[in-house]
Amino acid sequence: MKKLIDQTRIAPSILSADFSRLGQHVGEVMEAGARVIHIDVMDGSFVPPISFGPVVIEALADTVRSVGGVFDVHLMIDHPERQIDAFAAAGADSIIVHSEAASHVDRLLRAIRDKGVLAGLAVCPGTPIEVFEPVADLVDIALIMSVNPGWGGQAFMPGSLDRIRRVRELLGPDVAIEVDGGVDVKTAPLVADAGARLLVAGSAVFGSDDPKAAYSAIAEAAGAPV
Ligand code: DX5
Ligand code: ZN
Repeated sequence: MKKLIDQTRIAPSILSADFSRLGQHVGEVMEAGARVIHIDVMDGSFVPPISFGPVVIEALADTVRSVGGVFDVHLMIDHPERQIDAFAAAGADSIIVHSEAASHVDRLLRAIRDKGVLAGLAVCPGTPIEVFEPVADLVDIALIMSVNPGWGGQAFMPGSLDRIRRVRELLGPDVAIEVDGGVDVKTAPLVADAGARLLVAGSAVFGSDDPKAAYSAIAEAAGAPV
């Protein structure tokens, strides 16, 4: 996965997909050039909604892997340490935990890497970005939430741009900065310019009548490979 996120990538989030046609929807964006599929896991505790678990990764594995795609797993759950094994076994290529939900961040990031999976740390909009500093060497992906987590379709918070720039300065060029929430054809170029490499887009892709065309338009706007 590391190679894939060396350049700007749009990562469609299946949270906004039509679950009665999930395989088809994901197949369409893979055809359009998507290679990173974002998996939003919610537990009804860290965030109010419940979404889905590892079974969804297993169900999509053939569609995603057949073209060299990977799974980027965003755990919006309490006690993330209890779920690392299950998501790694299901085929996660990266696992991102929330700094607000992890009581032993250092140990948790090491445990994720020990599974051969890229380790990610996420911050909500109200969390100081300094949380990245003590664990900078253990973070492969720094996820800056540009909405409060829990739901797709929220408006991008403009203050996120400055946070992306500051995290870029703090962590240097090797760490991939990911941005999640309100990314569309208008905001994608702004976050890419600020220094983000992995741009999650849910409703802007799967909420569209034509997810394939929507993916391509956002990728082009951000300067990602199409
Ligand atoms: C929000 C999730 C996002 C969500 C983004 O809690 O982490 O990944 O799917 O949705 P949009 O792109 O619609 O803001
Ligand atoms: Zn997400």
